[in-house]
Amino acid sequence: MSKKGIILSGMRPTGSLHLGNYFGALENWVRLQDEYECYYFVADYHALTTGYENTDDYKDNITNVLVDWLAAGLDPEKSTIFIQSNIKEHAELHLLFSMNVPLSWLYRCPTYKDQLNQMKDRNISTYGFLGYPCLQAADILMYKADFVPVGEDQVPHLELTREIARRFNFLYNCELFPEPQPLLTKAKVLPGLDGRKMSKSYNNTIALADSPEVVQKKIMSMITDPQRIHKTDPGNPDVCTVYAYHKLFSEDEVPEIEHNCRNGKIGCVECKRKLVKNVAKLTTPHYERRQEWLKRTDDVKDIIRKGDEKAREIAANTMSQVRKVMNIDWL
Ligand code: TRP
Ligand code: SF4
Repeated sequence: MSKKGIILSGMRPTGSLHLGNYFGALENWVRLQDEYECYYFVADYHALTTGYENTDDYKDNITNVLVDWLAAGLDPEKSTIFIQSNIKEHAELHLLFSMNVPLSWLYRCPTYKDQLNQMKDRNISTYGFLGYPCLQAADILMYKADFVPVGEDQVPHLELTREIARRFNFLYNCELFPEPQPLLTKAKVLPGLDGRKMSKSYNNTIALADSPEVVQKKIMSMITDPQRIHKTDPGNPDVCTVYAYHKLFSEDEVPEIEHNCRNGKIGCVECKRKLVKNVAKLTTPHYERRQEWLKRTDDVKDIIRKGDEKAREIAANTMSQVRKVMNIDWL
């Protein structure tokens, strides 16, 4: 089967994923597997750029991401799944890019300023943190990716990656690196339990690792339309997070829910119960599959060994081309 191009994407291992990650990225990754040649990796060096101080959970976080990927349907027969730090070539290409990437390009990355402001509790005024978009460029260009599925916030990094590719090709008079494009799919946005963005740091997530009982508890305690006191009060679904969830999970029941809410014909408890049922159709089987994978960590390791091997072969080949055009292949 001929494929439409090379896709590469990575995720930081921040522990088990939540439903926001699922709808924002993972669901899309799974879908892309059949049409493209896909490379998906755990961006553990990236996690170190902000989390170098405490690495106690480093390995568990990687395991948790991997079991969520496999439970969601990333298929090692279709995609190459690997761990960034196992492919040392990423570090080498990052180093070589760092020789010619101007500091101004890194300082002007919006994520740089944003995260410096947000993560006041950590000391990230570091060389590694400033350089992380350069590492990201190395990740992407190593596999000569055509498309990179990412969220809006990462688009500037893709732009920087293209600039780095152009600069390298120009400096060493070659056409080694193609310019990758971001792949922005209409990601479905699922708010957190409190209506804000779903994020671990807000403590408002439904994790893919939550048991069915925990998912139920979380949904039943969501805030609804605050104006609604009695079941017969007309409600406003537009201000209700439960309704926002129904739009993603309840498909053809949505018009009826909206109508009954606006006309005071359904109570919030009943409405939430419906949601619990529909969310469980996705989360319960995922949870069960993830439990299975957790019992099979030897198989997960085998998958990674094979994925690493495939990735390493491509990376080694790219690096020998890089050394050649740079004339650093003395022997
Ligand atoms: N920087 C990305 C993030 O924080 C993760 C990442 C690292 C990545 N390298 C990548 C994503 C390469 C796409 C391609 O989410
Ligand atoms: Fe929200 Fe449903 Fe209650 Fe309406 S009935 S306010 S949609 S929980």
